[in-house]
Amino acid sequence: MSTEHQRILPDGERRSLPLNGHVGFDSLPDQLVNKAVSKGFDFNILCVGETGIGKSTLMDCLFQKSFDDKPTTHKLPNVSLNSSTYTLKEGTVTLRLTLIDSMGFGDQIGRADSHAPIVDYIDEQFEKYLQEELKIQRDLYSFHDTRVHLCLYFLPPTGHSLKSIDLACMKELMQKVNVVPIIAKSDTIGKADLTKFKNRIMEEVLENGVDIYSFPTDDQPVAELNAKMNKLVPFAVVGSRESVEVNKKMVRARCYPWGTVEVENEGHCDFVKLREMVLRENMEDLREKTHSAHYERYRRAKLAEMGFAQRDETDQPVRLSELIEKRRHQHLQQMQAREDEMRQMFVNKVKDKEAELKQSEQDLHVKFENLKRTHAEEKRKLEDRRRILEEEMNKFNKHKAETQAAQAQAARDMAQGNSVGSPGSPKSGKRKK
Ligand code: GTP
Ligand code: MG
Repeated sequence: MSTEHQRILPDGERRSLPLNGHVGFDSLPDQLVNKAVSKGFDFNILCVGETGIGKSTLMDCLFQKSFDDKPTTHKLPNVSLNSSTYTLKEGTVTLRLTLIDSMGFGDQIGRADSHAPIVDYIDEQFEKYLQEELKIQRDLYSFHDTRVHLCLYFLPPTGHSLKSIDLACMKELMQKVNVVPIIAKSDTIGKADLTKFKNRIMEEVLENGVDIYSFPTDDQPVAELNAKMNKLVPFAVVGSRESVEVNKKMVRARCYPWGTVEVENEGHCDFVKLREMVLRENMEDLREKTHSAHYERYRRAKLAEMGFAQRDETDQPVRLSELIEKRRHQHLQQMQAREDEMRQMFVNKVKDKEAELKQSEQDLHVKFENLKRTHAEEKRKLEDRRRILEEEMNKFNKHKAETQAAQAQAARDMAQGNSVGSPGSPKSGKRKK
């Protein structure tokens, strides 16, 4: 090995070494492509727009398929989301497509927080991904990524300006997802009005700081096309499930008494531009931005909420393992403190209860003593009364005996008097007849 090879280069300095033969690492991109193709791709589209604005029809047109989708009623009490996943195959590429439909959007009387269920849904999908990432044994390779990569925001073709509900909703969604506004049912609005409407929408979007998704202009092969297309946003689209024959070819179109509006005719609407931009040219950018911008923002906020920080109090970079150990230690200390506090509380409560019991025992004792005293008092009174009664009874008996004796004496005296004295008395002897 030459001395040049052994030299340690300062940070950032690079050397180009020409190879003397074929090594083989030029097949790396092919390996990546093969791996990605065998794994398949996840792509998730969220359609936000009023009931009946043409969301399902447009999805059918975009993927040239008839997705089983039922119309929603206008009477839903709040906004909810319905998601369906389909596996599509084009050539050797498998796409796991999830279509999420906002149901009942704009149908309620109080519509201020119509965006809340949509934002919650997007956050839930981020949370699922974060939970998988944080697992000890994670499996992101086969994980079904349900994070929303594209939000097609369907604007009604009013021809006026943006409704405040649309502005407010797009403003909330732009922080979570790539929002691409489109003018739905654009066959119902005239060409001149449409141009004015598009300009007005973009003016309002800029004025209100709504950061809608713009096609990337830093990737050379598509930069020019993307820059051109960015100027045509919002795309004015038409959808249809009907096919008619035009130039001996069956095409999707809407038929009117005055003519036919072809979905894929660039002179009639921007449907082809939309399909090219979001599916053909920028699908990977939409997936990448979802991961590196929107999910990253969610992850950072969530980890900060959980107490993880990028830098410590002394502005030094934090090592995650040390931080977790520190947090674990803090947590254990907090738990110990809480346990001590609870034990102390328990001891205090027992003491209070004991004092309370003692007090009530004393009260009971006093009560018992009082009762005992009252009882003794009453017993004594009863004793006195019994004695008095006995004395009275004795007196009475004595008096009774004396009276009886006197009566008996009187009777005896009378009997004697009769037998000695008057012969005429009836008891004085037998009279001779
Ligand atoms: P919900 O799921 O019930 O909210 O409706 P949706 O937004 O999915 O609308 P859907 O695709 O079911 O279309 C509703 C009606 O609008 C149907 O009668 C469609 O034929 C019609 N429609 C769809 N796209 C267009 C369009 O571009 N122009 C016109 N004029 N009508 C359209
Ligand atoms: Mg629908």
